Amino acid sequence: MGVDDRRKFLAYCLGGIAAVAAAGIIYPLFRYLSPLSSQLESSKVTIPEGAVREGEANFFQYAGSAAVLVHHPGGALVALSAVCTHMGCIVQWQKDRQEFFCPCHGGRYTSDGAVISGPPPRPLPKLPFAVANGIITVG
Ligand code: FES
Repeated sequence: MGVDDRRKFLAYCLGGIAAVAAAGIIYPLFRYLSPLSSQLESSKVTIPEGAVREGEANFFQYAGSAAVLVHHPGGALVALSAVCTHMGCIVQWQKDRQEFFCPCHGGRYTSDGAVISGPPPRPLPKLPFAVANGIITVG
């Protein structure tokens, strides 16, 4: 085996090591990103219509974050993100006041998600939903 043959052999070995190292970096990145895309595709949530009584709120996970379905007295429904628009804390339902309260800095929202008081800069985002055959489908 001459010097040129050894250099070629060494170049092949280094190329192979570089390819394995690149695959070791790229594959975990792919695995990290791919569940997100499949999660977003299947982001519909179904809730039985009878599961949320009038005046109550039902929290659930939607597209990877907290959401809430409110059943207003009188029958109207609204689906909202439960993530406070100030700094991202999860709001709490206060049934006696029919309001949302954010425990982090005291933000208050109406049952429709509008800001009443405190630091939240925007309403809670509304989520699309549909009701059919006694099933509420959010998303
Ligand atoms: S995070 Fe909700 S009021 Fe600050």
